[in-house]
Amino acid sequence: MRKLKVGIIGATGMVGQRFVQILENHPWFQVEVVAASEKSAGKSYSEAIEGRWVMNTPVPEEISSKIVMDSVKDCKKICSLVDFVFCAVNMKKEQIQELEYMYSKNECPVISNNSAHRWTEDVPILIPEINPEHVKVIDIQKERLGTKKGFIATKPNCSLQCFVHAIYPLMEFGIKSVILSTYQAISGAGRTFESFPEMNDNIIPYIEGEERKTETEPLKIFGKVGEKGIINSDIPRISANCIRVPTSDGHMASVFIEFEKKISKDEIIKIWENFNPISLPSSPKNLIKYFHENDRPQIKFDRNRDHGMGISIGRLSQYDENKFKFVCASHNTIRGAAGGAVLFAELLYEKGYLFQ
Ligand SMILES: NC(=O)c1ccc[n+]([C@@H]2O[C@H](COP(=O)([O-])OP(=O)(O)OC[C@H]3O[C@@H](n4cnc5c(N)ncnc54)[C@H](OP(=O)(O)O)[C@@H]3O)[C@@H](O)[C@H]2O)c1
Repeated sequence: MRKLKVGIIGATGMVGQRFVQILENHPWFQVEVVAASEKSAGKSYSEAIEGRWVMNTPVPEEISSKIVMDSVKDCKKICSLVDFVFCAVNMKKEQIQELEYMYSKNECPVISNNSAHRWTEDVPILIPEINPEHVKVIDIQKERLGTKKGFIATKPNCSLQCFVHAIYPLMEFGIKSVILSTYQAISGAGRTFESFPEMNDNIIPYIEGEERKTETEPLKIFGKVGEKGIINSDIPRISANCIRVPTSDGHMASVFIEFEKKISKDEIIKIWENFNPISLPSSPKNLIKYFHENDRPQIKFDRNRDHGMGISIGRLSQYDENKFKFVCASHNTIRGAAGGAVLFAELLYEKGYLFQ
C-alpha cells in the first residue's frame, strides 16, 4: 500500500510546524506539499521558517528543501498533488471558510484546525475517542457540496481537549454542570516568549473568543447525527474562564463538576483509567492517566506523556454531595491541534473517507 500524500496548509505556523514534525515517519501519511501565505510562497521551507522554527527536533531533511506553495493561488495544483490536506491558517473567518470550500470543491478532503467551519451544521467537530460516529455527516455534506471525495472536517479548539475526555466517560452519571478555568500556554496563540513579550512574568485573564468555544463546542461533540447535520446536545451546562499563562506549551484546566447520580472518587478514577476506546497509529497507550501525587499533573513534566497525546488528571476530590473537583492537562499543539488532527485523519482513513 502506498502512503497517502498530504498537504499542510499553514505549514510555517505554530500548528503547521507541529504537523511537519509529527508526520515524519508516519506509517500511513507522507507530506507532499507545504503551503503558506504569499509571503512564504516560492521560498524553500527552511528559508521560510528561518528564525521561527520552534520545534525541539530539526526540520526533517525531506521537507527543508521543499518549495512552499501559495495556499490560495496554488489551490488547484495542490489538490492535484495530494490525497488530502491538513489546514491551520491565521486568516479572517470568511477567508478561511472560502479557502476550505475551495479545496473541498476541488475534491480534496480538508482536515481543519481552524474554527471557521466548526458551526456549519454538516461539518463534524470530531474527537476520535468520543464521537467517531459523527463522520457520517460527511456524507450529508458531500451531497450538499456535490463532491465525490472532497469535504471539510474539523477538530475542536485546543482549550477543551484537556477536559472533554475527562467528562465524557462520566456522562452516564448525569452531569448537571461543569465549571472550569483553563490555564493556556502561549503557543496556543501561535506565539513564543520572543513574539509575545507581554507574557513574561505575567498572566492575562482574557483570550478572545476562547470562553464561548470552550463552553459550546462540547455540545456539538456530544450531539447526534440528524438528517441535515449534527443536532447539538443541550447538556451539560458548561461555564468557563480562559486564562493565558506564561508557559510555552500545554494547557491545564481546573474543573468543578456536579452529578445527578451518586458516584465515588474510586469509581471515577477507575472509569478514567479504563477509557481508551480506539487503537490507531497515533493513539496514546494510556489515554487518561490519573496521578495520585498531590502536585501532578505538571505542565512541564506531563504535557509530552504518550507522545503528547495523553490526557493527565489529578487532584480529584469530593467537596459536596455529588460534587467533585479535579485538575487536568494536555499538550495544546499535539493533542489539542496537530496530533489530534492526525489521529482524526487515521480514523477517516480507516472508515474509508480518505483514499488514493
Ligand atoms: N496554536 C494552537 O495551539 C492551536 C490549537 C488549535 C487550533 N489552532 C488554530 O490553528 C490555526 C493556525 O494557528 P497557529 O497557531 O498555527 O497560527 P500561526 O502560527 O500564526 O500560523 C499561521 C499560518 O497561516 C499562514 N497564513 C497567514 N495568512 C495567510 C494567508 N493570507 N494565506 C495563506 N496562509 C496564511 C501563515 O503563513 P506565513 O508564515 O507565510 O505567514 C502560517 O503558516 C488557527 O486557526 C488557530 O486558531 C491553533
